[in-house]
Order: sequence, then C-alpha cells, then structure tokens
Amino acid sequence: QVYDHYFFNESAYDYHDGGYVKLEEPDVPASRLNIPAILAPDQETDTDVWYTVSAQTGETQLLPGEKTKTWGYNQSLLGPTIVFESGKNYHVTLKNDLPELTTFHWHGLDVPGPYVDGGCHAPVYPGKPRKIDFTVNQPAATLWLHAHPCPLTGWDVWHGLATAVVVKDEHEAQLPLPRNYGVDDIPLILQDRRFDEHNQWDYDKDYDPDGTAGPTALINGTVNPYFDVTTQKLRLRILDGSNRREWRLHLSDDLEMAQIGSDGGLLPEPVYLTKLMLTCAERDEIVLDFEQYHPGDEVTLYSDDVPIMKFRIHEFKADPTPLPDHLADVDYPEVEDPNAPIHQVVMSGTDEEVEINGRKFGMMRIDDRQELGKAEYWDITNTNDCCGGMIHPYHTHGGSFKVVSRNGKAPYPNELGYKDTIGVNAGETVRVKMRFNYPGVFMYHCHIIEHEDGGMMAQLQVYTQDHPHKKYRLMDMDTL
Ligand code: C2O
Ligand code: CU
Ligand code: CU
Repeated sequence: QVYDHYFFNESAYDYHDGGYVKLEEPDVPASRLNIPAILAPDQETDTDVWYTVSAQTGETQLLPGEKTKTWGYNQSLLGPTIVFESGKNYHVTLKNDLPELTTFHWHGLDVPGPYVDGGCHAPVYPGKPRKIDFTVNQPAATLWLHAHPCPLTGWDVWHGLATAVVVKDEHEAQLPLPRNYGVDDIPLILQDRRFDEHNQWDYDKDYDPDGTAGPTALINGTVNPYFDVTTQKLRLRILDGSNRREWRLHLSDDLEMAQIGSDGGLLPEPVYLTKLMLTCAERDEIVLDFEQYHPGDEVTLYSDDVPIMKFRIHEFKADPTPLPDHLADVDYPEVEDPNAPIHQVVMSGTDEEVEINGRKFGMMRIDDRQELGKAEYWDITNTNDCCGGMIHPYHTHGGSFKVVSRNGKAPYPNELGYKDTIGVNAGETVRVKMRFNYPGVFMYHCHIIEHEDGGMMAQLQVYTQDHPHKKYRLMDMDTL
C-alpha cells in the first residue's frame, strides 16, 4: 500500500492561517547541499566519549553578495552532526561565546532533567562553560540539539542554534539500510527565513506570536541546494527545524518514499508514501530508491508546490537489496495501574493568548507529576477551532511516548514508532502513553517555538518513591 495524502486534517494546515508566509522559489543559483561534518570527540575510550559544543556568533555566505550574520555550534551556522552510540557515556563541555546566555537542549534524548536535558533551567552564561555527563541508552534515532532559553528559544533557533544528533545502536547497525554518512545517509534540516536587502535576518521584524516564518527555504543552511546522488538508495534524516513551518513534502514523478523511522527510532515496518508532512521538531527518516533514473536526471523535492531541493542523479551501482519488512520491535510498557490518572494537556488560544490548561508557563511552577518508570496516559487536546484551526505540534522532554489514538481512532500509519513530538489537529485529542526513565523536571509544550516562548508550555516533575518531593533549583524568569 502506498499512501498518497498527508494524514493531517487539511483545514488546519498552516496556509489557512492569516499569518501564513508562503514559500517562494529563490532567485539564486543552485548550491551544493551543505553536509554538516561529524563532530570529532576531544577524547574517547571504549566506553566514554568527550565532546565540546560551543555556541558562537559568525557570518555565513548564504546568498551571493553580503554574508549573513548567523549563530551556530562550533561553526557560524547550525553545527556539526553529533553522533552518540547507545550504551556509551558522554561528557560534554558546553561553551557559550554568544553575547547572552543560552541553553543546550537535547531534543529526544532520554536523559535526566532539568539540567542535563538543557531546557530553561540549565543556563550557560557567556564565558562560563558547563559540563554535563550522561549515558545514552535508547534505540538508534535522529534527534537534535537546539537552544532553549525561555522565553528566547525562538530568537536563538532563528539565528541558527540547532543541529542534528544521530544515535546509533547494534540493532540498526545490522539492518540492510544506507548508513554511509554524507554519501547515502544525510540529514536534511528544513528551515525558512526572510532575507532583507543586505542578506540579513531580522527576527524582531519578522516576529509573529503565532510562529515566525520566512519565504526562503534553507536546507542544512543552504539556499536552493542540490545533492549529488551516487547510490541507488538514499536515506534522508529529515528534521523540521523551523520555528513555525509545517513541511508538506513530495517528489517529482510522485516518487515513492519509504519511511523507516520517526522521532524516536525505526518504525516497526516501512511505510510507503508519496506525501509526507512534518510539523515543527518532528523527524522522519525515509529511503529513496532512484532505480528508474539515469545519470543526468534530476529529482525535485517540493514543499506544497514550491521546489526546495534537487537530487542530481549520477552513475550508481545497482542495489537490489529490498528494505527489511520488519525494522524494529516497538514495544512500550503497558499502563499497569487502572486507577492511574490520565494526564490532561489542553492547548488553547492563538497569538498572545496561548495557554496550556488555562495557564501560561511558570518557570517556578510544577504543573504535573508522574512516578519514575511507570507508564501513564496523557491526553493532548487542541481546542483551537478558530478560522480553520491550527495544528499544535506537542512535544515532551524526557523521552519518547507511544501514540495510542487520535480522537479515539487509530494513529496515522507512520506514527507507530516512538515519538516525542506529535502534530495535534484542531479539535482533536491525541492519547499517548508515556513512561519516564529518569527523574527530574521536564518541560512539555507546543513546538511552534513562538507559542512555547509565549507560554504554551508547562512542566512536570518525575519523582521516585524515596524522594517524592525532591527540590530542584529552578531558574526564575526574572533572573534572566
Ligand atoms: Cu525541542 Cu522543549 O524542545
Ligand atoms: Cu525537547
Ligand atoms: Cu502551538
């Protein structure tokens, strides 16, 4: 079966929203897609790896003419891809060479909160490095690192503080999947910006409380990119790294995409589709098969009807290996306690009125609690039905959940893996099952970043029986 439609309710697509900024085809020559380098460890042993990640300012040649002032990790824009191997211990030095504080949030990484997790309570001040240590223990997946200072996440990410993170494990390593980084396995970080007449980005000018967007697509920080295809199969690790934009992807000739993974790792089995929508912060891994193409051909990737990237086909060796029918076991613990409360998250409002459960985010307030290691249900509701509605991409820190249902019906076919971000349609309740594997304070929020910054965010404490009321040092917004 090949799915040929976006699963989401079309009435809530963002181009129905008044503030929607349509993509425009950039009027600049094509450039080779930037493939981020892989971050080199400072030091490593069989069991431990040391990395340094530093947030810095810089300038990047994005368009012909003037360079654009940008921010990045260890480089002027975005950052190197950070690779973790499940089972190893990591020691990461976080440095800040920006003119202001930032934080380093490991989106999708299963680590303790709130300090290692790197949300708002883990500020790193300019010139004052912080060291974090953690063990990675989760399935192979595509995650990301992004800044998360509240309420300036939108500002930081817009300037470029985001990068891809790849988790590897032994199971994925033995499957017949493309994994030669940069050749047949590449990240695609989808973002959008507006360039002014001096090729600069102006966040404050473009700011929209319902999500800041721009008309120019950037992929891995490249405007109008092409990628040279030299293998029959190509694995794309797609990340919606936009502040606000949903990407509705499809290819020329309606080329089929085999989706093999989502946020938290491999799907149970590949899902074949010709249309794929990502909401903010979601990741989807797909494999393209260029068998029918010849050297000199081009395959175009579109979002809606705007071409955003080209695949230039070169000579390649035939690769008849079929994708495995079964990719991974996705088992999630059952909710054992029949009397366990069902956590409620109601996302309401638009613009400045955004809230969760009738309140705006409070840095010092714990909104919910859950015991460590016990799976419980969470009902995520989007009450927004104004003007065709708006999808809120809900995200929770502290691990992955399993989608149980959408308004009581089965989840979409490509949502059967582990997820940490889920697009919730207007008027819908998505039920998920969530278990936390580490204690701490964790945020949960809409990942339209301006909604998050605007207060559509809350936090929970994951507690243990022996320290049910452990106190964490939480950052007060006023100390910013
Ligand atoms: Cu992608 Cu609270 O984060
Ligand atoms: Cu996160
Ligand atoms: Cu939202």
